[in-house]
Amino acid sequence: MRDGGSFFDQPDVFDAYWRARSRQESANSVLEQPIIESLIGSVDQLAVLDLGCGDGQYGKQLLAQGAASYYGIDASMRMVSLAKKNLTEGNAHVVHQAFEEMELPAGKFDLAVSRLALHYVDDLVHVLTKVCRSLASGGRLVFSVEHPLLTSCQESQGTKPGSWVVDDYFVAGARDVLWFGDRVRKYHRSIEDYFLAVQQAGFQVDMLRESKPDRAQFSSEAEYGRRMRIPLFLLMTGRK
Ligand SMILES: C[S@@+](CC[C@H](N)C(=O)[O-])C[C@H]1O[C@@H](n2cnc3c(N)ncnc32)[C@H](O)[C@@H]1O
Repeated sequence: MRDGGSFFDQPDVFDAYWRARSRQESANSVLEQPIIESLIGSVDQLAVLDLGCGDGQYGKQLLAQGAASYYGIDASMRMVSLAKKNLTEGNAHVVHQAFEEMELPAGKFDLAVSRLALHYVDDLVHVLTKVCRSLASGGRLVFSVEHPLLTSCQESQGTKPGSWVVDDYFVAGARDVLWFGDRVRKYHRSIEDYFLAVQQAGFQVDMLRESKPDRAQFSSEAEYGRRMRIPLFLLMTGRK
């Protein structure tokens, strides 16, 4: 079974993923991104760590918005190569590494962000403890993951929202998923598990969001109505 990094290294998966991401009104652009940006606020002069940096476009945006530096980590070589091409200007550094193996300098970053990458991690407390140590006092963690209602059970993949199945909700652990034509191992945990993991890693939890759609982000009532049915993302923030 593929882990998060090797999964995105499959050429067909990689292409299909970026095709889906570039769709107009993709869930990422209308649901996840606006909430991440509102939770983060100003990045002016901040040293930013990005866990699961993907193609580095977000790093480029952060630097353009005034971040002092950007340090992206990703376990997929394809993602890292693309990120390096996209991040040729500014104080940017991208490394090919798994979160589980990363060693971060203590007290270096002001903001740790992770967008849709931490549900590939088994021992979340271990990874977030390293992240907490790498932050300066008062530094912030902001992250998004696939919503636990979606990761609990694979029964509903590809079926209509009205028949979505939530099962084994309180059984945390691996879920092997067919996604973009290949299989990948994701890790399910309840909302409460995420909350406790952030606390156990040394953060004070500040905010929790469930990606409730904002009508202003949608061009049609029908698409807005469709997205009001099932929560896709969970977002949390913590402070050291
Ligand atoms: C769904 S993509 C999101 C990429 C980017 N954050 C974005 O929002 O566009 C998830 C990323 O997390 C990376 N990833 C998954 N598991 C990882 C791990 N254990 N260590 C490091 N990177 C990982 C993948 O390689 C992939 O680039």
